[in-house]
Amino acid sequence: MRQPFNERNRDLIVNVNGTLVHRDEAGISPFDSVVQGGDAVWEGLRLYDGRIFKLREHLARLRSSALALAFAEIPPDEEIIEEIRRTLAANGMRDGVHIRLTLTRGVKVTSGMDPRLNRSGPTLIVLAEHKAPVYERAGLKLITSSLRRFGPDTLDPKIHHANLLQSILAKIEANAAGADDALMLDGNGFIAETNATHLFFVRDGVAMTSRTVACPEGITRATVLELCAEHDIPSRVKDLSLNRGLPRRRGVLHRHDGRTRECDGNRRTDHRRRVAGAAHEAARRPLPGCHRARRSRRGWPRDLVSLAGASILRPSTSVRAGLRDYSGL
Ligand SMILES: Cc1ncc(COP(=O)(O)O)c(C=O)c1O
Repeated sequence: MRQPFNERNRDLIVNVNGTLVHRDEAGISPFDSVVQGGDAVWEGLRLYDGRIFKLREHLARLRSSALALAFAEIPPDEEIIEEIRRTLAANGMRDGVHIRLTLTRGVKVTSGMDPRLNRSGPTLIVLAEHKAPVYERAGLKLITSSLRRFGPDTLDPKIHHANLLQSILAKIEANAAGADDALMLDGNGFIAETNATHLFFVRDGVAMTSRTVACPEGITRATVLELCAEHDIPSRVKDLSLNRGLPRRRGVLHRHDGRTRECDGNRRTDHRRRVAGAAHEAARRPLPGCHRARRSRRGWPRDLVSLAGASILRPSTSVRAGLRDYSGL
């Protein structure tokens, strides 16, 4: 996975609490809650041909996350949409855009974690960038992270918060192994998701994904399940283990130490795994193996084949139904 600097983003206009400013001049107070404690919620939005994929659903999740964190004030949806619209208009954007929408608890009167130190309302940040899909369609390499995803008894994954250190540490493991991303397990050793997104794979003709025990209630995930139903593709939501859940095939292994070796495909520890309509090869279970993905050879709809995240989902007819024209809102 590569995210090269895009020259078109050199002079971006970003929006901080309604002020439109050049990216090099934008500032956040050192007293802001996001600086003090990662105390913020966020959503990643995609703009396709002037429309934002599942905008209302993303705003609903932003709101429920902020409510769960007991933010004293949350801007109404219409106000947030207006700031998104102003930001897109300021940048002349219509397509191929990723919007990172962040709502922080706001500026504190003095440094510290106590939400009672917040007395001036939240900070809304709209960062819109020209961004191509970040995942390769040809396949991905995944390692299995040594870090487990939180369940609701620790830090509820239904809260889409901006404290991403657990994911970042998993990503560091993936980087060290020369992999694209890390597969993360839940506290019981079942597959939760990757460090960045939900995971589907196809086994015996059935599209499978994990329960949302240790991953967010995904908007893309829900869309994929809807697409499966719409296209008569069998799908199943269940606890998935590395050994039992993923199909085994011959393939190339990528170990956590970064070395690559061939496997014979016959040993129980050698698997090739199909993930998001792609095949993965993995080393040992449970930690830290490394998988290599390839494209599906079956005729899955493009949306399903490329479902590894909102950032790569392409709109189909049914997906388009969830799009909103920002200019019309
Ligand atoms: C940890 C994590 N998992 C999965 C997703 C994908 O969720 P959705 O498709 O609902 O945006 C995200 C998106 O931000 C995420 O942060």
